[in-house]
Amino acid sequence: MRYALLAGGKRLRPLLCLAAAETVGGRAQDVMPAACALEMIHTYSLIHDDLPAMDDDELRRGQPTCHVAFDEATAILAGDALLTLAFQILSTAAMDPPPPVEAWLNVIHAVSTAAGQYGMVLGQSLDIAAEGGRRMTLDQLQRMHALKTGALIETSLECGAVLGAADREQIARLKRYGSKIGLAFQVVDDILNVEGDPAIMGKAAGTDLARHKSTYPALLGLDASKSLAHRLVGEALHALDAFDGRADVLRALATYVLERQR
Ligand code: IPE
Ligand code: IPE
Ligand code: MG
Ligand code: MG
Repeated sequence: MRYALLAGGKRLRPLLCLAAAETVGGRAQDVMPAACALEMIHTYSLIHDDLPAMDDDELRRGQPTCHVAFDEATAILAGDALLTLAFQILSTAAMDPPPPVEAWLNVIHAVSTAAGQYGMVLGQSLDIAAEGGRRMTLDQLQRMHALKTGALIETSLECGAVLGAADREQIARLKRYGSKIGLAFQVVDDILNVEGDPAIMGKAAGTDLARHKSTYPALLGLDASKSLAHRLVGEALHALDAFDGRADVLRALATYVLERQR
């Protein structure tokens, strides 16, 4: 669990969560358990995503994947335990307000919905089911991306907003930003899988093509995929228009999603 979690990912989901809270006047320290829980769920999803039965990858976060460094059983269990620990941390935080217990309950509901069969797990199963099969339509691809990657990213914003005591309109705006950023993030992930540098990314490139994955570059080509990522980030920034300078970290993260090389 420590090997995979502390390897040094980009920490995008926790950053989004903390920045969302600060955007609406909340305090980072109140939101930290949610930020950590989100990173644990994300890391669990990577450990399982890399397993031989899934994407069968050997490099992650610049080091051998969990099942390579240890063994498959250990990797499966480390993922299971990180997912479970995330909810232990969230429910522990709920017992010690502030933020109020109702806010934590909302967070637990949102995170479990986004991570499970209605969100990330559904997206992952659509991804695996499509492997080697008939090419997806653009709508199907967008739905898969929104589920496997977008859902947890959107929820990261929602958690920060809810715990920062945002009003309904603020929550809706931040979720809109999150859904745009989330989709853009996976489009860029697909682009990097084609033309990224494995030494910078800390994971292999070229694997989507080798595995006949449905991706944006495969469906639209690289140029149209890049234009789409640009457009989505523009829409994400637009969703922040009503916020003041406290949303500048979110604005910077939107640009980062577009320009990232890892
Ligand atoms: C990789 O996520 C998998 C996707 C959902 C696209 P990240 O690119 O956020 O991975 P880390 O956390 O930086 O390792
Ligand atoms: C990973 O998607 C999505 C989740 C782990 C939920 P990918 O399989 O496309 O991402 P990488 O390229 O392995 O990081
Ligand atoms: Mg995958
Ligand atoms: Mg993968």
